[in-house]
Amino acid sequence: MKQPTTITTAIFATCAILLTACGGGTNSSSNTGTNSTPNSATDAAATTTSGSIPVGIAFAQTSNVALLGQEGVAGAKIAEKYFNDKGGVNGTPIKLVLQDAGGDEAGAINAFQSLINKDKVVGIVGPTLSQQAFSADPIAERAKVPVIGASNTAKGVPEIGDYVARVSAPISTVAPLSVKAALKQNPNIKKVAVFFAQNDVYSKSETEIFQKTIKEQGLEIVTVQKFQTSDTDFQSQATNALNLKPDLIVISGLAADGGNLVRQLRELGYKSLIVAGNGLNTAKVFAVCQQACDGVIIAQAYSPQQPGEVNKDFRAAYVKQFNEEPPQFSGQAFAAVQVYVEALKALDKKSKISTMPLNQLRTELNKQLLGGKYETPLGEIAFTAVGDVIQKEFYVSKIQVDPNTKKTNFTILK
Ligand code: ALA
Repeated sequence: MKQPTTITTAIFATCAILLTACGGGTNSSSNTGTNSTPNSATDAAATTTSGSIPVGIAFAQTSNVALLGQEGVAGAKIAEKYFNDKGGVNGTPIKLVLQDAGGDEAGAINAFQSLINKDKVVGIVGPTLSQQAFSADPIAERAKVPVIGASNTAKGVPEIGDYVARVSAPISTVAPLSVKAALKQNPNIKKVAVFFAQNDVYSKSETEIFQKTIKEQGLEIVTVQKFQTSDTDFQSQATNALNLKPDLIVISGLAADGGNLVRQLRELGYKSLIVAGNGLNTAKVFAVCQQACDGVIIAQAYSPQQPGEVNKDFRAAYVKQFNEEPPQFSGQAFAAVQVYVEALKALDKKSKISTMPLNQLRTELNKQLLGGKYETPLGEIAFTAVGDVIQKEFYVSKIQVDPNTKKTNFTILK
């Protein structure tokens, strides 16, 4: 049962969220007797003593995927401080609860289960990969806990369920822009070699869009080469492709594999343009491919130059902390936390969330967030009926590696 049945249940569940209001807490899980499922969201497990509203963050902090996940964590933490400094949720701060989702499905499932059942979060931001979302999001859906993807770009993620939304624009919107930008850079492109990671759902989804766009632009796909996200040696696929003399290479993979592939293509003498997809959209790619990544073209759903006030504040906070421009995954994670804060504020004004049982709060929060409009570092965003992001501003950038500082910049192509 997801509905509150007694006032006792309601008070205990509220205490799980705002513990100081209930006189402090313990780490034990005490069943109220009104609910027979020990891990139910309405039991009285006390996991925070801070009197704050717990928001779950399930990004990859370990594994190769941490190249992307740590950027998400950074953006979420900046949002936590930013919004709490502004009064949090009508005076109550939010508190991020971080669970490492690692780089695979099992890690994401564990993180989601802990956040839902142990940490009693009101909603979750994550996981890092679409590949993980298809396994972990159904757990939140069944528990009726809102999830906002902040880096999942594969087709079908918001459709996982009513409680699943995302602020990360789908590849169908973003990917075609980079192919068109490459053609603008070099209108003589005719032959394209396509690479994708066949064990990763986002990469498979993105390559379909890339291949469709390439054909629509009247270009010839001379080969489609497959690899695994765990691969480090791409000599055979790269050699096969380069023998066909492509003038454009288009890659869908993640940061470590994709970065190594770019490096090996350059080492084998490939000199023409490379378009990379969303999985390489990180300054951390420099650690993998170094100077070889210079010039790679990537379409982005965030730019540090977005002129809104919130982005100016976010960008300043990020630059102050990390001494470099914020990357897309940080901007998207900030936006996801912002959506929770603003939706909680709006909900609290209608009906005090401190008196709401956790189950009801999660359900009401999900409805509220899907109906809102938000001025975020991504520009103004809202959600479609299924929970996909509605966003207006996109960019295509070129990776520029400064040989002196060794820093990677994304320079917007006009
Ligand atoms: N955009 C990548 C994914 O959806 C990180 O998996």
